[in-house]
Amino acid sequence: MRMVLHLFVWVFLALAIRVHGQQEGFLSIDCGIAGDLSYTDDTTQMFYTSDTKFIDTGTNKEIATTYMTQTLPRQYQNLRIFPNVNRNCYTLTPVIKSNRYLLRASFMYGNYDGLDQPPQFDAYLGVDRWEIDLPSNSSLYVWNEIIMVASLDYISVCLVNTGNGTPFISALELRLLDNSTYQAATESQYLQLYTRLDPGSTSGKRIRYPDDDYDRIWSPWVENFWTPINTSFSINLRKDVGYQPALAVMNTAAMPTNTSANLSFYFPTSNVDPRLQYHVFMHFAELEQLQKNQSREFNFSLDGKYALGPFSPTYLSVNTIFTMSPLSGQDQHVVDLYKTMSSTLPPILNAVEVFIVKQLTSPTDGQDVDAIMNIKAIYQIKRNWMGDPCLPVNYSWNGLNCSYPDSSSPTNISLDLSSSGLTGEIAPSLANLTSIQSLDVSNNSLTGPVPEFLTELPSLKFMNLSNNNLTGAIPTVLLERLKNGSLSLSVGNNPNLIEPSNVNVNNDINPCQVGSCKKRRKVLVPVLASVIPSLVLLTIAIFVLWKLSQRRHQRDTESVVKAKEEVGSISQRKSKDGSLRLENQRFTYAEIIAITNNFETVIGEGGFGVVYHGYVKGAIQVAVKMLSKSSSQGSREYRTEAKLLMRVHHKNLASFIGYCDEDRNKGIIYEYMANGNLREYLSGNTYVLTWGMRLRIALDAAQGLEYLHHGCKPPIIHRDVKATNILLNEGLEAKIADFGLSKVFPVEGLTHVSTAVMGTLGYLDPEYYISNKLNEKSDVFSFGIVLLEIITGKTAIIRSSERMHILLWIGPLIARGEITTVVDPRLAEYDVNSAWKAVEIAMECTLDTSIKRPTMSIVVNELKECLALERARERTFSSRREEADTRSSNSIEMLPNHMRSMAGPIAR
Ligand SMILES: *[C@@H]1O[C@H](CO)[C@@H](O)[C@H](O)[C@H]1NC(C)=O
Ligand SMILES: *[C@@H]1O[C@H](CO)[C@@H](O)[C@H](O)[C@H]1NC(C)=O
Ligand SMILES: *[C@@H]1O[C@H](CO)[C@@H](O)[C@H](O)[C@H]1NC(C)=O
Ligand SMILES: *[C@@H]1O[C@H](CO)[C@@H](O)[C@H](O)[C@H]1NC(C)=O
Ligand SMILES: *[C@@H]1O[C@H](CO)[C@@H](O)[C@H](O)[C@H]1NC(C)=O
Ligand SMILES: *[C@@H]1O[C@H](CO)[C@@H](O)[C@H](O)[C@H]1NC(C)=O
Ligand SMILES: *[C@@H]1O[C@H](CO)[C@@H](O)[C@H](O)[C@H]1NC(C)=O
Ligand SMILES: *[C@@H]1O[C@H](CO)[C@@H](O)[C@H](O)[C@H]1NC(C)=O
Repeated sequence: MRMVLHLFVWVFLALAIRVHGQQEGFLSIDCGIAGDLSYTDDTTQMFYTSDTKFIDTGTNKEIATTYMTQTLPRQYQNLRIFPNVNRNCYTLTPVIKSNRYLLRASFMYGNYDGLDQPPQFDAYLGVDRWEIDLPSNSSLYVWNEIIMVASLDYISVCLVNTGNGTPFISALELRLLDNSTYQAATESQYLQLYTRLDPGSTSGKRIRYPDDDYDRIWSPWVENFWTPINTSFSINLRKDVGYQPALAVMNTAAMPTNTSANLSFYFPTSNVDPRLQYHVFMHFAELEQLQKNQSREFNFSLDGKYALGPFSPTYLSVNTIFTMSPLSGQDQHVVDLYKTMSSTLPPILNAVEVFIVKQLTSPTDGQDVDAIMNIKAIYQIKRNWMGDPCLPVNYSWNGLNCSYPDSSSPTNISLDLSSSGLTGEIAPSLANLTSIQSLDVSNNSLTGPVPEFLTELPSLKFMNLSNNNLTGAIPTVLLERLKNGSLSLSVGNNPNLIEPSNVNVNNDINPCQVGSCKKRRKVLVPVLASVIPSLVLLTIAIFVLWKLSQRRHQRDTESVVKAKEEVGSISQRKSKDGSLRLENQRFTYAEIIAITNNFETVIGEGGFGVVYHGYVKGAIQVAVKMLSKSSSQGSREYRTEAKLLMRVHHKNLASFIGYCDEDRNKGIIYEYMANGNLREYLSGNTYVLTWGMRLRIALDAAQGLEYLHHGCKPPIIHRDVKATNILLNEGLEAKIADFGLSKVFPVEGLTHVSTAVMGTLGYLDPEYYISNKLNEKSDVFSFGIVLLEIITGKTAIIRSSERMHILLWIGPLIARGEITTVVDPRLAEYDVNSAWKAVEIAMECTLDTSIKRPTMSIVVNELKECLALERARERTFSSRREEADTRSSNSIEMLPNHMRSMAGPIAR
């Protein structure tokens, strides 16, 4: 047989006797059940335990009784919710390092709170974002699955509150896989399940453990142009090796009814990012005893290119064929199984799995993690210290600051355990935090000597041991470092500490040897102190910084920062108007030059100046908008924007990182938005946003505006809502930017403010234009125009032969009900009801009379409904969601059409 190994690898497995596993390597956690409860599931015979051993936070809830149906798996009846803490991490153990696992997280909201509002939140796998799919209504349950290699002896799964409702979870399941399987999952990348299907299923039932040894969940897949075939002989699988898909899955297969047609499928079913990489696994077993004059022989092609073959499935034995290198670079991928000239029988397919490849980032330095975990244990620190200490970047542990070098793991550079009720001696584990630059253990009840090992920390520059009960003498090595100025130390208020006569330690030694510090204080507290101060800490939530700096200010202490090359200082000076208080986020012009590499790359033009690309600390990408020096109008806008950004924080508003205000050099530093603005996306030809993505973006933007109008007191009117001011990050999440024209209602309760007309042509509210009376409904009008652009793909002012406003263009079309002409012709698939609804919302937003327009809160809710309609359409293409159905359970459940045959009569 001619066999070409091109993109595929062929795994052959011999027949053997199957032995049922004893669930070794299985960890089954039912989240939200009482701590002492455990049970064996009636259907799967799997043993579940409560989640209390694996997490410190959260409370238990039960779904509403309406949804507790006979057919609902028991794991979904209870859930754990996390109302109080933003980041909640499960630590799954035992886990055998370097082994491959299937990890599944399941969610059912079930209206447990009676609000009928399923929340949205983020999940993390260790330090990496795990893009989970969450139920969009009360009756749905959803599972998310990945295949990964454990890099540590535990696996951490975190749920993060993003301000869109309380995170929750129903179940977590971990299954140890055979080492020889799914080798595309490595320590540096994991596989996220896209779909796992059982073609030709005769039972119409989903299959999992105990049929499947690894508890993979196989969903039935039936097409009307396929003929299902099955065997009553059993395909015996070996217990100890290989992929071993469930017998019940392998026992059935699909073949094209038209025996000369291809057996083909494509994925994904809607256009998604062509950069995504996919791996396909197909499992085969011949089910028919072939006669002498019969043969079944077929080739494989990927995206139209021959890949492997000819191949003949072996009788009653499993062959697995999978992609060696991932498929990528296209919106959709096609797999064709086509029979050879000599074959008398058509191709068959018994089982198929598709995964998306996801890269992993390196976790925090292992020694640092061990040390900090040890410190946490010794002092029994209760601070929601969970998961990775430094990662994700915005979620490093409270009291801990990290450095994020380009090419290696993050390390801890400052640790603040002041006023934490610490008792006992100074922990030896501190010596293992080799990168630490600042250590603060003041205001505790530490006893014992000042250990000598502290002097061996090469980078340590600031140490505060004051207000403890330390005893003995200060080690001479420490004193040496004090004298030569390489260390600043506070030891005040340790009554039993012997002070050396020749060095005055109570008054800080050289707290101000560098920098612009003018005054001396009794006690030196290094505030977020480190060599790379503000630069590294930027990405920490502004809120946290703000809180910290406030607390520090109250303590009336002083912060000093020492730098090798650059000298920066964090001071308490107030700027002229007294509002720029986030001093930590202040950058010098010299720093701005370094960040932007002397303004090398221009990425855009904002309201008051040019926007440059930059790197903070060589790693974190930022956008820097500089005020053009000639503009006095710009100066006002700069001030408006800076003030506003400091005040408002919302995930759908541009994130503020810092500012520069040095004489005439003024600028604002934002989070870099990798995908530019919405306008570019809508007019670009390379990548077409799907209808679902467009609705998501519209909803994001609407939520940002809703926050400005209704979440801020007094309300804020943006005044320049337009497609170019809606920015997209790498996850295509939208954020509203450019607050230069924004107006804050001076007094609460006003219905409008009278002001000069500002805004952008095409988006401008006609009522405001005529009356000069501004209220938040002007933003609603502009948003309506943006929504029309999103729907139609056209610009606010359509430039064809003559310029025409989008409202004038769309009016007659809507009157004639021509939805397909209205919707962007590049959209291949969308839910028509959802599109109509979106058009209706846009038309209401753009009504002439402002009082008739809806508020942004209403718009947000309506857009959610649009999105739900579209998601429902998409969901019929998903096998990982299920409706908790009160109808009889033996009907065929929602057919998974993630993959659709292209040989079918209605191919696309
Ligand atoms: C699986 O392979 C890894 C190395 O790839 C090895 O460290 C580990 O021990 C293996 N596990 C088993 C169960 O053989
Ligand atoms: C095979 O398919 C036939 C017809 O669909 C069905 O009657 C029979 O029970 C199936 N056998 C097995 C083992 O599934
Ligand atoms: C069967 O498939 C072949 C090849 O795709 C096609 O030419 C033929 O018309 C099909 N026959 C029927 C009856 O659909
Ligand atoms: C194969 O041989 C059987 C008799 O053994 C005959 O009935 C059948 O028609 C043959 N099929 C083909 C495709 O030649
Ligand atoms: C079957 O697949 C081959 C290889 O991709 C392709 O060249 C051929 O056009 C396909 N046939 C049909 C009928 O789609
Ligand atoms: C420091 O780290 C080393 C190596 O990881 C370890 O052997 C040692 O026990 C640690 N020391 C302390 C005090 O934790
Ligand atoms: C400090 O320690 C000494 C003994 O070492 C003890 O007598 C004293 O009460 C302690 N002081 C405080 C404030 O804890
Ligand atoms: C939930 O969503 C499903 C699928 O979209 C839909 O069929 C069902 O009616 C919805 N249920 C409720 C209660 O809204």
